[in-house]
Amino acid sequence: MASAMLFSLFLISALTFYPPSTTAQVTDGNGNIVKNGGIFYILPSGLGAPGGGIRALQTDNETIPLSVVQSPFKGDKGRPINISSPIRTEFLPEGPVVLSFEYENVGLEWTVVEGLPEGTLVKVKSYPNTINGSFVIEKAKAETNTYKLLFCEGVFCGNVAVVRNENWVLAVTQDEPYEFHLEQVLPTSADT
Ligand SMILES: *[C@@H]1O[C@H](CO)[C@@H](O)[C@H](O)[C@H]1NC(C)=O
Ligand SMILES: *[C@@H]1O[C@H](CO)[C@@H](O)[C@H](O)[C@H]1NC(C)=O
Ligand SMILES: *[C@@H]1O[C@H](CO)[C@@H](O)[C@H](O)[C@H]1NC(C)=O
Repeated sequence: MASAMLFSLFLISALTFYPPSTTAQVTDGNGNIVKNGGIFYILPSGLGAPGGGIRALQTDNETIPLSVVQSPFKGDKGRPINISSPIRTEFLPEGPVVLSFEYENVGLEWTVVEGLPEGTLVKVKSYPNTINGSFVIEKAKAETNTYKLLFCEGVFCGNVAVVRNENWVLAVTQDEPYEFHLEQVLPTSADT
C-alpha cells in the first residue's frame, strides 16, 4: 500500500534520533517509582501549563471517540490510562510503552495514523491504517518528575505534542513535546 512510502517521508521530515535508553525507572509526580501496567492520569506539567488530562474525543469523520486529546479544562483529569512496558519488569522503565484508556476492564490501546488533514495523529486502535511503531516514555528534564512521549519506528522518532487548535489533539511532530507528570489512579474498593 501507499503507506510505506508516506511513512518514509514522515521519517525524513519529522524526526529526532532516539538514543538507546538506559534503564531508568519512571516516577510519578511525587517522585515515587511506579508499577509496570499501573493506571495513571497524564497531567500537564509546570505551573500555568494549560488544560487538564488526556481523554478520547470524537472528532472529524469519527462515529465514535477515536481521537486522543488533551482536555482544555484545568480541573479535568481525563481518562485513567494503563501504561505498560513490553519488558516484563515489576516497575515501569523508561523506553517503549503501550498506552491504553481503561474503560470498565476494557482497554482502548493508543496508536498513530498519518496523512490526516491535521497531520500524524494519536488515535485509538480501531482507527483504520495505523502505523506500526511504538510509543516511548522518557524524562523530559533531568532531575524532575516530568516526562514526554515519543513515537518511534526503529531509531527514528517524533515528539508527541498537543496541537492547540479547535480540539487539542495529540500529534507526532517535530514541535516541542507535551510535557506531563503521572498521577497514580488508585483502585477503588469495588475493584478488589
Ligand atoms: C495494563 O495493561 C497490561 C498490558 O495489557 C496488563 O497486563 C495489565 O494487567 C493492565 N493493568 C491493569 C491494572 O489492568
Ligand atoms: C476520515 O477521513 C480520512 C480522509 O480524510 C481517512 O483517512 C480516515 O481513515 C477517516 N477516518 C475514519 C475513522 O474513517
Ligand atoms: C510491525 O513491526 C514489528 C517489529 O518491527 C514486526 O515484527 C511486525 O511484523 C510488524 N507488523 C506489520 C503488520 O508490519
